[in-house]
Amino acid sequence: MEFNDVLLSRRSIRAFADAPVPAEQIERLLARALESPSWSNTQPYKVAVATGAALEGLRTELTERFQRATTLQKASLPNKLLGALRGGVMPDGDFKPILHYPEDLQPRRVATGIGLYNMLGIGRQDRAARDEQMARNFRFFDAPVALFVFIHEGLGIYSALDAGIFLQSLMLAATDEGLGSCAQGALALWRSPVAARFEIPKQYKLLCGVSLGYPLDQPVNRFKPDRRSVAEIMLPPRSGGTS
Ligand SMILES: Cc1cc2nc3c(=O)[nH]c(=O)nc-3n(C[C@H](O)[C@H](O)[C@H](O)COP(=O)(O)O)c2cc1C
Repeated sequence: MEFNDVLLSRRSIRAFADAPVPAEQIERLLARALESPSWSNTQPYKVAVATGAALEGLRTELTERFQRATTLQKASLPNKLLGALRGGVMPDGDFKPILHYPEDLQPRRVATGIGLYNMLGIGRQDRAARDEQMARNFRFFDAPVALFVFIHEGLGIYSALDAGIFLQSLMLAATDEGLGSCAQGALALWRSPVAARFEIPKQYKLLCGVSLGYPLDQPVNRFKPDRRSVAEIMLPPRSGGTS
């Protein structure tokens, strides 16, 4: 594919076909992504590649945790406390989940959510259907591969920057080979299920996950949230500022 076709046709895929991705292909995509630039060429990331039994185990465990957390959220305060004390429900990810969006970004988040739910035919008030769509995150949208991306804590925010570039290269390489992907912050809520299945050095922190596989031809996979205009992201020069 031409570069611009790859760039413009990549979309977040939220419905995958039940078709495996060969291990060599996953390795090739990771090798392509490793061509990305990084801070002093440190490449401060590691990836847990879940397929087969590990993937199924994670699907079950993460879904269970999400369901217990959702039930708890709706419970009365004493039951919430009891549930939390029993353990395994509270997120144990390395980074705090975003609970409150900054005021200037919240409208974009809402518009994207509404656009996605419209595409799925989910009404605004249909809490159960929205919870179910959220739950699909933890089933990796039925993808045959889930990647968990860890970053070295020693480089601070630059590790996340490098991992972001790495991820975009990976997702574009996947698109180029006819595969679909979805980066998922949701998959960083719980570290322990991933840590139970992979050897993760202590200084590597779970940043996000990525579901990978062949996209199904469904409307949800054609959802294209709008983009800011260039004018909107370009900072205006100070009037009367230094030349
Ligand atoms: C770091 C990151 C985390 C994301 N987390 C999720 C997620 O948890 N669930 C989800 O369905 N989409 C998630 N997305 C996908 C975004 O919603 C999507 O990229 C955005 O709406 C733009 O749509 P597009 O990727 O189709 O162009 C995430 C994307 C990024 C880059």
